[in-house]
Amino acid sequence: MLTNLQQQPADALLALIKLHNADPRADKIDLGVGVYRTGEGDTPVFRSIKAAEAKLVAEQDSKAYLGPEGDMGFVEALMPYVFGKDSPDMGGRIEGMQTPGGTGSLRLALAMVKRAGYQRIIVGTPSWPNHAQICADLDLGVVEFNHALPSGHPDMDAVRAAITGAQEGDAILLHGCCHNPTGIDYTNEQWDEIAQRIADAKILPILDLAYQGLGMGMEEDAYGLRRVLVAMPEALICYSCDKNFGLYRDRVGALYAMVSDPADLAKVMSNGHNLARANWSQPPDHGGAAVRLILEDEALTAQWLAELDEMRDRMRQVRAKLAASGTAGAVDLTPMGGQNGLFSIVPLSKDQVLEMREKHGIYMAGSGRINVAGLTMGNIDKFIAAVADVTA
Ligand code: LMR
Repeated sequence: MLTNLQQQPADALLALIKLHNADPRADKIDLGVGVYRTGEGDTPVFRSIKAAEAKLVAEQDSKAYLGPEGDMGFVEALMPYVFGKDSPDMGGRIEGMQTPGGTGSLRLALAMVKRAGYQRIIVGTPSWPNHAQICADLDLGVVEFNHALPSGHPDMDAVRAAITGAQEGDAILLHGCCHNPTGIDYTNEQWDEIAQRIADAKILPILDLAYQGLGMGMEEDAYGLRRVLVAMPEALICYSCDKNFGLYRDRVGALYAMVSDPADLAKVMSNGHNLARANWSQPPDHGGAAVRLILEDEALTAQWLAELDEMRDRMRQVRAKLAASGTAGAVDLTPMGGQNGLFSIVPLSKDQVLEMREKHGIYMAGSGRINVAGLTMGNIDKFIAAVADVTA
């Protein structure tokens, strides 16, 4: 019977990791999967995480189960950063649970909306491919709208039309900041408008915040999410610490639900707990515990925030250098200067992306997405020359 299964393609993005590793060229460049890299091309463990891990090893006295919600100290310690220090639980309307990474959080959020009777998810495209993949696995319909214009700005007409065309039983999935894969975020004024329109249309927002702090700053990157929440009675928030704490393979995330009446929270969250139990039972503890130890300690928190500033500054420098280059062959690099986070799209065809890889040893996603953190002052000129070459 198992032979009835159809062959599935390897995940195109994750497959790039192996392809890059197997490439013997010394000057190859990995612009594929979204991990931060230093100016030397490394992805080190944060110093604040190392310190928290040392503390964890010394102090943790049990590894007994915690329950499907995971480490609630971790979940609650994050809330002031996500929802604001003034009222992190919006007057008792928000509760969360720990999940294995942002993907675990999205999986639970989408399974919850499915269970609640939602049928379609409205998503701006291109989007992170796993969004559509999870929806397909849960048999949720996806309604796409165009996220960005070639000028490098959000396509506001498209998002307006998508919201106006929404039906009862629709939810909308929005990237909180550092849009993956385009790096093109809504301005604060655009968020104000979107929040109002979603509220008027009475559709459920699912906010995916996987890169907080990598765009403009921790507070700035939360603007859109917070703006949507104040306008809405209900929302789901999918959070990842994998990038902003550099915990990638440790899988650290959280799902938060916001309801209008605090009396409904326990019922809503019981669905998250029950779905977690059916999927992974309980989230892995280590990374979340390390984050909690950082957030419980003022000095470690300051160190973590300084490390995040360093990352953001470096990515800004790379973006400034790309933008200052003007054009590379047929490609205008200037919009990348104003984009946010790890990603931008280089408008290349599939064949040109392949040529970048085969001829120049430069690995990027098939969509033309690059991880700008893979560029350094040492390899950026090679990248620009290669784009010029394949588009000549
Ligand atoms: C990415 O888009 O590169 C990251 O979110 C990593 C992943 O899991 O795809």
